[in-house]
Amino acid sequence: MKFLYQDTSLVTDEQIQQTKVRLTDYTQHLKQVLESKNYDAPESSINLPFNEELLTLVKKVGREKVSPKLKYIIDVGIGGSNLGTKAVYDALFGYFDVIEPNRFPKIIFADTTDPEFLSKLSNFLSNITDPEEILINLISKSGGTTETIANGELILTSLNSQISNLKSHLVVTTDEGSKLWEWAVQNGVEKLPIPKNVGGRFSVFSAVGLFPLLACGINIDELREGAQLAIQQHSEKISDNPAALSAIILYLQNQQGKNINDNFIFHPELESLGKWYRQLMGESVGKEHNLNGDVVHTGITPTVSIGSTDLHSMGQLYLGGPNDKITTFIYSDQSKTLALPQTSYFQGLVSGINGKNVSGIMNAILAGTKIAYQKKGLAFTEIVLADISEKSLGEFLQFKMIEMMYLGKLLNVNTFDQPNVEDYKIETKKILNQ
Ligand code: PA5
Repeated sequence: MKFLYQDTSLVTDEQIQQTKVRLTDYTQHLKQVLESKNYDAPESSINLPFNEELLTLVKKVGREKVSPKLKYIIDVGIGGSNLGTKAVYDALFGYFDVIEPNRFPKIIFADTTDPEFLSKLSNFLSNITDPEEILINLISKSGGTTETIANGELILTSLNSQISNLKSHLVVTTDEGSKLWEWAVQNGVEKLPIPKNVGGRFSVFSAVGLFPLLACGINIDELREGAQLAIQQHSEKISDNPAALSAIILYLQNQQGKNINDNFIFHPELESLGKWYRQLMGESVGKEHNLNGDVVHTGITPTVSIGSTDLHSMGQLYLGGPNDKITTFIYSDQSKTLALPQTSYFQGLVSGINGKNVSGIMNAILAGTKIAYQKKGLAFTEIVLADISEKSLGEFLQFKMIEMMYLGKLLNVNTFDQPNVEDYKIETKKILNQ
């Protein structure tokens, strides 16, 4: 993975060097967290990709629960409990599910309580009769999220009449000691723990992400390898620490009034990866209070755009509207060899495409977009993935989680809490219990 910013991020080397000093102690702190190998610090999610015990446990449960006949994994969870899994699944398989109907196992995500989707899912599940075709993974860190438990109720009920011993096809992932954990103990249901200090949006390399991804055939060893690579790149020398560099640029641009970070991804299959990042940035730095307790209402609004699709819908706004964004272009270096036919069916309509590689067309659009941004003086950075593989995705996910820790530090907020998410959860529970 490459992180490119020179000439386009519109911040000077001097500004970067001045800001970097503020991160020296934190870099040291992160190193200590890594050396400790434990889960005591809020940043301890960085130890997950090296945790062999966790990997062994996930693989053991995988061997016990994943039958060669497995067709559908129902991933029941929301927010931090499913976005990382969906990011990786969609990048490698999910985006192609409609055109690869015979590739199994597939993950079906049940997150919100949408009556239309749930009634169709319910019908679908009631037609599954072979228990080995189904595996349910119910994931909730707190163990008490309304949507997750409601969906779980419905899904288990839809399967209960025709699947004998349904509980043996259920795996629960939650905090040790949560009410859901206790329920699993009492009901003899397999359970996987989440370390206490690993919050939802930092949990993709815990059992939250590793188990369902393993179950659907994704190589979690390579995913972890990519994450390890991002952690190893973590250094005091700023040019060798792309996560800190990226955080510094986002911070400096934000100080100059750029309140939006648009993640412009030139791979539609990575849209869910962008949505994972939305949560990471939204919840980590979108804060009412800073660490001194002052009311600051700070944050950068993360958005996701897909190239080239959104050039046809948002391009006008981005190039002609307010200059209030710092853009991150995300794409891969890899080109697939798929050429358009030499002879045209549509002669005279669009010149310069026949015989060209499809990747070449996409690259031309991306290059054209970057030139247009530069001509308008719009700030951007680039993340270039080596390819779309487990390793690259793992590297990207970990890079972004470290970037967010640095960004939170610069913005002087608590990167790891989400007090305002609780606001609506509490109100919802009150209404449901009236
Ligand atoms: O980051 C958060 O706290 C939220 O997005 C949670 O991940 C989400 O609400 C799900 O919570 P839980 O995993 O406890 O069910």
